Amino acid sequence: MTGTDRATHTPAKASARDTARLAAQVIAPTLAAGAVIRRRAGMALAERYALDRRATSLLAELRGHYGPGPLRLDLAGRRFAVVLQAGDAAHVLAGTPDPYSPATREKRASLEQFQPHGVLISRGAERDDRRAFNEAVLEYGHQLHSLAPRMVRTVREEAGKLLGATTAGDGEIGWTAFRTAWDRTARRIVLGDTGRDDTGLTAMLGRLRSTANWSTAAPRRATLRDRFERRLRTHLDRAEPGSLAAALAATPASPGTDPPGQVPHWLFAFDGAGIAAFRTLALLSTHAAQETQVRNELAVTDLTEPHLLPYTRACVLESVRLWPTTPFLLRESVRETAWGEDTLPAGTEFLIYAPLFHRDESLPYSDRFTPEIWLDGTAQDTEALMPFSAGPGECPGQDLVLLVTSTMVAALLERHTYLPERPGRLRPDRPLPRTLDHFGLRFAALPFRPGR
Ligand code: HEM
Repeated sequence: MTGTDRATHTPAKASARDTARLAAQVIAPTLAAGAVIRRRAGMALAERYALDRRATSLLAELRGHYGPGPLRLDLAGRRFAVVLQAGDAAHVLAGTPDPYSPATREKRASLEQFQPHGVLISRGAERDDRRAFNEAVLEYGHQLHSLAPRMVRTVREEAGKLLGATTAGDGEIGWTAFRTAWDRTARRIVLGDTGRDDTGLTAMLGRLRSTANWSTAAPRRATLRDRFERRLRTHLDRAEPGSLAAALAATPASPGTDPPGQVPHWLFAFDGAGIAAFRTLALLSTHAAQETQVRNELAVTDLTEPHLLPYTRACVLESVRLWPTTPFLLRESVRETAWGEDTLPAGTEFLIYAPLFHRDESLPYSDRFTPEIWLDGTAQDTEALMPFSAGPGECPGQDLVLLVTSTMVAALLERHTYLPERPGRLRPDRPLPRTLDHFGLRFAALPFRPGR
């Protein structure tokens, strides 16, 4: 039986008071931290006031009160249904794109700022074509992309330069230095080596994304988008061998696809991948047993060649389980949908808040760093874990991104070990925080000597 035809729970209607609590404690803080681009001040506040813990506690409380069915609420003239049960989340995601379209009104208003033809906000036949094209270029379902040798070389070069600059400087790596190296890596992988230093392109995308954070309230920035698209096009036109731009040029596309129009999402999504990689480093810097496992894996692998690095990869998966970079998965029903003994009208927006399921307190590994669950079948056997979404709309870049992030983590750990500035908040003997502000992470990089 698939997720789509499984019985679902009957919805309940939230009271006016609970609607206000949900708006204030779940929806508003996510917007404040930045749904499309993470804001430094918003993230710091989110960590300081444990906003994700408050949000998941409220949702768990409401589930106890109203039952497991989707919780209906009306907000700003829109109908929402907050999904409270992992099986129902799997059901909605399995029903992508019909009846549950990922191209919700809010997402379209927001992402149109920089990727009007992106697959995520497309519908109908155009969505099908764009999805197939993304899957083909990103080689979804293939753990080692055919461009992996070049990607591995690029990641290792940039990691080497980052470490070189760190050693020549104060010996510390913070988010800004890591992000600079990560952005160079991403531009080289997507656009080719010539794109490495085009920080202007990333800055333009950043400005468009900041505007996109405001969703429907945002003004259009047509001139900036036009400049961004023209500059991106000059990179893609080069189709530099070994880059995704070359793969894009070589992949057949049906007329409605707009291949260059898919690329802003890739550049934007690499940002979240950098956050996930940096948080993985933070986890490994405070969890000696897992760090040893990674080192054991690295010791028996020729890191200059592409390899799967299963344990290191599982550490990155834990980073996105513990702190999903896409906490809200949104779907809008394109027709009336049946829920238990009731129906929900077309146009209902379903909110799936991944941390509610990833940190469910009934899971024995809920607040612990447990890479093993991604290796022993535990994660595959639970529908509660969805860091890359699930069903036909799941992330088509996940294989590629796990390769790139695990290679970066491996390159950084190969000859160095890291002392975090504030180790206390990630102690292995305490529940891990529900929010981890990556902007505030800082490590001293020390040479690693085996057997020390
Ligand atoms: C750690 C890094 C990443 C995570 C956790 C992640 C996660 C996700 C999630 C949760 C979605 C579904 C969003 C939704 O349903 O609303 C998604 C969609 C998507 N991702 Fe990723 N992603 C990552 C990196 C990437 C990268 C680097 C690329 C491209 C190079 C990429 C390409 C895409 C595309 C094209 C979609 C839209 C798919 C569709 O609508 O069918 N992602 N990703």
